[in-house]
This record gives sequence, C-alpha cells and structure tokens, in this order.
Amino acid sequence: MIQRALQLLHASEVIGLPTETVYGLGGDATNSEAVAKIYTLKGRPSFNPLIIHIASLEAAKKHAIFNSMALKLAAKFWPGPLTLVLPLQANHQLSPLVTAGLDTVAIRCPNHPIAQKLLSLYPNPIAAPSANKSGYISPTQAAHVHNCFGDKVFVLDGGSSPIGLESTIIDCSTDVISILRPGFITPIDIEAVTDNMVSYQDPHQGIIKSPGQLKTHYAPTIPLRMNATEILPNEGLLSFGNCNLIAEFELNLSLLGNVVEAATNLFDFMHKMDKLGQDGKITSIAVTHIPNDGIGIAINDRLSRAAAKK
Ligand code: TXA
Ligand code: MG
Repeated sequence: MIQRALQLLHASEVIGLPTETVYGLGGDATNSEAVAKIYTLKGRPSFNPLIIHIASLEAAKKHAIFNSMALKLAAKFWPGPLTLVLPLQANHQLSPLVTAGLDTVAIRCPNHPIAQKLLSLYPNPIAAPSANKSGYISPTQAAHVHNCFGDKVFVLDGGSSPIGLESTIIDCSTDVISILRPGFITPIDIEAVTDNMVSYQDPHQGIIKSPGQLKTHYAPTIPLRMNATEILPNEGLLSFGNCNLIAEFELNLSLLGNVVEAATNLFDFMHKMDKLGQDGKITSIAVTHIPNDGIGIAINDRLSRAAAKK
C-alpha cells in the first residue's frame, strides 16, 4: 500500500494519508501541479495556505527558519500534534501555492507509523490539509475520506486517528508566540516549555492570522447547537458524561466524562449524526456542555465553528 502511495506522489497525484490527528489529503509540497489538485479537490480558497509534513526536524530546517523557541517546542512535541508557523528559508523548494504567498510556512512532524514511514521514504515534504471538502467535518477514518472523494483519491488506511482533532498551531514567526488554533497540546503544555504565557489569537476578532480559522468550519449539513439542556423535536443528541436528556438518537462522546476520549470520538460522531440527518431521521443536532479545559478548549472551538450560521 505504501509503495502505491509513493508512486502516486511521484506522479503528481494526491492521496489520503492517516495521521494521529485527522486524515490528510496529501501531495508533493514542491510540485505545484500536485498542490493545485489538493485545492481543487477540497474546494479550498487559494488564499488559505497548507501545512507541510516532514519526517524530522532536519528535513524541516531545509524549508523554514527555527528560532530558539521553535527548536525547544519541536524538541518537546515532535513527532506529535503540533504545527509551527515559521519564516520561510531563502532557498526553500516549496511550491508558492502551499504558502498562498505568505512569507511563513506551517510545518508539522506527525506521530503516526504510516505517515512516518511514507515521509521517510519520500524525498520531499508532503502538503496536506485535512481530507474533507472545505468547511465540512474533518475525517478520522479512511471511510470518511472515501465518502468525501470516492474513487478519485487513493486512501492509505491507518485505522481511526487516535487524537481525532487537528494539530495545535503555534505562530513562532516572531518573538511573541501565540496559538492560532487550539488542539491536543494545550496552552499549559506550551507554557511549560516557553516559561511565558501564550496568547490565543481568537480569529473571530481582528486580523485572521491563520486564514483557515474562519468562523464557519467543520460543519455538518444539518444545524448543530451547543450547551443543550433540553431536546427539541427531531433532534439528535451528542451527549457527554452523565446525561439525563432523552432522545431517540443519542451518541455519548465519553460516558466517563473524559475530554480526551470525547475528542477522539467527536468528528466520527458528527459524521454519524450527519448521516442520520441525510437519511431524514433527525433534522438537527444538540450537543450538551463540554468543559472548556485542556483539549476541551479545542473541542469547543470546533463545535462553535460547526454551530456558526453559514
Ligand atoms: O492536524 C492537522 O494539522 C491536519 C493533519 C492532516 O496534519 N491538517 C490540517 O490542515 O488541519 P488544514 O489545512 O485543514 O489546516 C491548516 C491550517 C489552516 O487554518 C491554515 O490557514 C493554517 O493552518 N496555516 C497554514 N499555513 C499558515 C501560515 N503560514 N500562517 C498561518 N496559518 C497557516
Ligand atoms: Mg481542515
């Protein structure tokens, strides 16, 4: 399977690849033909840049400039669910489409055996956004990718993504670092390395530094609302922990009230609820309160975008 994926990458094609966060829609980051295919398949606006994936810090240094803070963060969290936004190296080989004309690049070293194997055997970085149509729910299983793109995209099946939410993105391109997208690695984890408070740039306000952090995102085709305390007619219920609400269609993100488990289940359960919507069994989704601590911050970030009106 990996050989087939490598052949396709060499032939400027796009593949679905598993990572520990979500599945990516990957293509050779130095090849504009391949990168253009990613944007077209995803239906992604070309002003929204892509993350590149590399096997090691050494490989990353060919394309980006690491300051001392970026080196510390990479040493602590790579391979893993952390993306660093860094200044581009002068002689980088990346397609200009990857960075959408910015002078920075987002880089991540995934901690997944299949992704690592592929990256160690492929000579160039792989650009990969999440493998969903722009704005729709992110994929955490090969079947989610297949449901989106059918036979147009070969998918390397690596089972369910163990983390289930996209990587934390940190802007390290200036002296003051900030979080552009919350994820599994929390502000507290980061502050333990940087010895400083890090700010979260809420993209709902002011300048959007991470162009992908638009208000509506991750959205099912039927409406979704948060912090539900009652169930309306024809609503499906996404519950968390002990829940005394009753609905005909209910999925519990974590019976024990564990936010890490809830993160792993979130997108899969949103896909399942959306399918119930498409089959006419429910007309909207109600989600009960999820604590806003640790990875709960990232869960609520994704849910609030899913809930935002289009
Ligand atoms: O976990 C992940 O990060 C997954 C897996 C596949 O690695 N990838 C992912 O990619 O979530 P995507 O394209 O769905 O999200 C990338 C985000 C977007 O919000 C984009 O705007 C932002 O990263 N981004 C990319 N390059 C950037 C840059 N130079 N400066 C600021 N934000 C950037
Ligand atoms: Mg995405």
